Amino acid sequence: MKRKILVTSALPYANGSIHLGHLVEYIQTDIWVRFQKMQGHDCHYVCADDTHGTPIMLRAQAEGITPEALIERVWHEHKADFDGFHIEFDNFYSTNTPETRHYADDIYLKLKAAGLIEVRSVEQYYDPVKEMFLPDRFIKGECPKCHAKDQYGDSCEACGTTYSPTDLIEPYSAVSGAKPVRKASDHYFFRLSDPRCRDFLKRWIADPRHVQPEAANKLNEWLESGLSDWDISRDAPYFGFEIPDAPGKYYYVWLDAPIGYMGSFRNFCDKLSTKNGQPAETIFNEYWGKDSSTEVYHFIGKDILYFHALFWPAELEHAGYRTPTGVFAHGFLTVNGQKMSKSRGTFITAASYRKHLNPEQLRYYFAAKLNSSIEDIDLSLEDFTARVNSDLIGKYVNIASRSAGFITKRFDGKLAPISEPALLQQLQAAAQDIAAQYEAREYGKALRDIMRLTDLANQYVDENKPWELAKQEGMEARLHEVCSASLNLFRLLTLYLKPVLPKLAANVEAFLNIPPLSWQDAQKLLPAGHAINAYQHLMTRIDPKQVESMIEENKASLASAPSPVRHAEKQVHETKAASPSPQPSDGTTSHSTKPASGQVAGYPQGGEGASVGAVAPLISIDDFSKIDLRIAKIVNAEHLEGADKLLKLTLDIGEEKPRTVFAGIKSAYAPESLIGRHTIMVANLAPRKMKFGLSEGMVLAASGSEPGLFILSPDEGAKPGMRVK
Ligand code: MSP
Ligand code: ZN
Repeated sequence: MKRKILVTSALPYANGSIHLGHLVEYIQTDIWVRFQKMQGHDCHYVCADDTHGTPIMLRAQAEGITPEALIERVWHEHKADFDGFHIEFDNFYSTNTPETRHYADDIYLKLKAAGLIEVRSVEQYYDPVKEMFLPDRFIKGECPKCHAKDQYGDSCEACGTTYSPTDLIEPYSAVSGAKPVRKASDHYFFRLSDPRCRDFLKRWIADPRHVQPEAANKLNEWLESGLSDWDISRDAPYFGFEIPDAPGKYYYVWLDAPIGYMGSFRNFCDKLSTKNGQPAETIFNEYWGKDSSTEVYHFIGKDILYFHALFWPAELEHAGYRTPTGVFAHGFLTVNGQKMSKSRGTFITAASYRKHLNPEQLRYYFAAKLNSSIEDIDLSLEDFTARVNSDLIGKYVNIASRSAGFITKRFDGKLAPISEPALLQQLQAAAQDIAAQYEAREYGKALRDIMRLTDLANQYVDENKPWELAKQEGMEARLHEVCSASLNLFRLLTLYLKPVLPKLAANVEAFLNIPPLSWQDAQKLLPAGHAINAYQHLMTRIDPKQVESMIEENKASLASAPSPVRHAEKQVHETKAASPSPQPSDGTTSHSTKPASGQVAGYPQGGEGASVGAVAPLISIDDFSKIDLRIAKIVNAEHLEGADKLLKLTLDIGEEKPRTVFAGIKSAYAPESLIGRHTIMVANLAPRKMKFGLSEGMVLAASGSEPGLFILSPDEGAKPGMRVK
């Protein structure tokens, strides 16, 4: 029976790069979709960039461009990464589109008509300088529990406690540095606490087809501790859709994000419609209409389960749409057993992986690790190298490379009939089990089975030794048959691996001179007389040096990573995912490491801090990187005749000749105390002619409203001339 299936992956935020963590999900989904298509089902895979919200608005401001320009640029970056990893969306769209707005308004108005929207006044932190309400992640302050400074408004990275921003000691705005004030404003709520929602969700979660067992447990915990109403509006300024009957109020990004699935699909229906002549509306309703008999699946990370398995089905149900057939959550990626980290170089972007390594090798490794559970998966870089080299090159590719040449050179490229088909039949018989494993998202099991069959195929080649047969007189026919059987085995293995290795499979199809393999082709063999094309090299081993240089590159990019307001890297605390009243993230979550720019770190905290006023307006990383800061060794320091503020410093920054700098630090330092110290200087400041001579740069010093002046020192080990970024 031909199934009609719509599949989605979560929509990546449009303010960060795709990284290997994201790719766990897109690869997992893409394999499933490709498998369904090979089965002959009507399967559509849609996605989009998630473009709304405060972080995107601020990021665009920091770059001095419109949000529209930012999301346009990122869309192309994301698309290139997805193409590079062979993630084959049928439609990759954006949430900032008329389609998504249409369904957002439609759902909102239907929920309102059903009495499920309520307006309530909410008091929140407001940045009086930026004139905007601050999402939790844009408020920083001291952790109320462990007193670590500069912690975010939702959780402490030092001790892991979660809290609300009002618990922070000495809060400040991470956007402007200003002290936030409390301010009330009307917010729109989706009444999840309504018994209709609760009763519906209880039933919905109880159906084991809808969510995995571990997910159901978590969801039931949340349900039992009582769902709070969900705040779906944000005040201007906000980049998003204005709520139709509420000027100045915008849908919270998480309201329109899942609706983006519908928006992207509707846009795809228009394209389908021009092909098959069916009205787009009809196709759309076939998938999203109330009593639809088609299937809709959402692949997501475990961090966004509550949006997809609580808020989303409740919205759909009460706005008169169908609910998802299944929500499939996966775990988080760790690298070498640890959370991805910029400083360790394991926060690897898709773009940098592509520069150094073959994307299909990552697809294979992730698939080997993936199953249907919510467990985290680990990318051990050593294991990755060993496994890919052994399984794909040592075992799989080896079968073809040892047989194909003889067929081409000795038999005019034509295959022989096979008189002992037992092994081939054994491989063919595995088709159903392997299919069942793909269907159940047990890719690890599927690949283990396929590798067992690959071992058998290799054993066959080893035992029959075509390279020896080729030297023996009178063994022509045997050689022909052994090589023909090997290539048939190779064809079946390729078919089974095709959802995981689509590009490699296409190259094999070209080499074997066959049309694209579908699952039912497992029951056929290449007939005698079939002519193949010459064997082309299929895959290269991973050299551990490739992995090393990728890690080095990602370490190096740490210093230049743009972080006007932190973005891409997402922090998910287990405590947060398990909390009974989920505090959704809206892409404001990020870094595990402190911002390197010091933009907000070190902002005056009261207590020990000095009061020096708000932080300067945001600059872009490009602005910052114009300043060339260097470690300088103070090789000499002396008083100047007639100068009451200046000292004359001689600075070594690794250049041929030391530089002379006149620094206004006489009030704070005796020259002798400075000689031999390291400090930090601006090395590309235009030289300035002064009364005492030419000053060729500037040293940096801290000062506040109280007296005192403090020059900076690098940590031990920094050498003259090193760049500070
Ligand atoms: N924009 C939201 C999703 C909206 S869906 C209507 C979002 N975006 S995201 O860019 O942060 O993440 C996109 C997907 O990638 C999510 O499903 C998320 O769980 C997944 N992953 C992001 N980092 C990940 C890992 N480190 N490991 C595994 N999956 C990860 O959330
Ligand atoms: Zn703490």
